[in-house]
Amino acid sequence: MLDKVVENFKSIEDKGFKVLRGIETGMKTYHWVPIDEVSTFSGLPLEEVRYRLDRLDKFELIEGKKIGNKRFKLNFNGYDALALNVFANRDSIDSIGGEVGFGKEAEVRKAKWKGNEVIVKFHREGKVSFRKIKKERDYLGDRKHFSSMLIAKLAAKREYEVLDELSSDVRVPEPFDWNRHSIVMENIEGDELANVTLNEEDANFIFDILVDEIKKTYSLGFIHGDMSEFNILISENQVKIIDWSQSVNLDHPNSQSFLKRDVENLCSYFNRKYQLGINIKDCLEKIRS
Ligand SMILES: Nc1ncnc2c1ncn2[C@@H]1O[C@H](COP(=O)(O)OP(=O)(O)OP(=O)(O)O)[C@@H](O)[C@H]1O
Ligand SMILES: [Mg+2]
Repeated sequence: MLDKVVENFKSIEDKGFKVLRGIETGMKTYHWVPIDEVSTFSGLPLEEVRYRLDRLDKFELIEGKKIGNKRFKLNFNGYDALALNVFANRDSIDSIGGEVGFGKEAEVRKAKWKGNEVIVKFHREGKVSFRKIKKERDYLGDRKHFSSMLIAKLAAKREYEVLDELSSDVRVPEPFDWNRHSIVMENIEGDELANVTLNEEDANFIFDILVDEIKKTYSLGFIHGDMSEFNILISENQVKIIDWSQSVNLDHPNSQSFLKRDVENLCSYFNRKYQLGINIKDCLEKIRS
């Protein structure tokens, strides 16, 4: 949990971060990293490493295991701490605040940057449903070996890159920074579409905007892949589409079925809730044309 990380962040100190990075490097080779290797990768003497590992363990940033010698690995708290440290050092955020969203696949927090509110999204893919993710996610490529942290990192990278490509043309949050499994992005005021009730005129208006955005996205070569009333944020003045990590490019072998599913989801939602009587096939044709 991020609260624990934030609580102990200042006490980790430079040498603690060196040890965390040492374990992270070791995890490219080992599932559990032997303490000697932690010392080598962190560039710190064994005595210092022992002291630091004790502290990191107390802060719940690592997990330790006895297999002959002691072995260690990062957990998601440790990974969060490393990303936060980078954002702090790069001046991408000044402080981290309350939770705005928490689910199986991401922990989303408000943060401050030069007096403005921004969002930090910590990806958690792979933490729960490893198998399902492995089957569904395009960004894993042909990799056979990956940790849950690598999956989360690839998801964040994908989301950052797509937001970066789209944000000047499509209504999506502007991305500001990316490190490991985490993204700093624009804070979107508003509620999930699922939690608002529109009048008929507004429902038509918003639906038309969303179709235009899907069309623009498509013409730029992308498909969202998880379009739903939960991934659309709406307020009096704006509507934005969020949550792009599972998006695919048009050359993906299943791109057309993902597009169809996205459009069906959106049309069915508006038809069900607002009786707009939209013809899904026509809508799909309009987007492809
Ligand atoms: N840029 C943003 N501005 C404001 N709120 C956001 C932003 N990004 C995400 N959120 C909030 O956090 C929630 C979860 O974010 P997102 O949909 O990107 O992640 P997710 O992978 O779907 O995670 P979950 O498993 O929680 O569904 C959103 O539904 C929204 O309420
Ligand atoms: Mg979502």
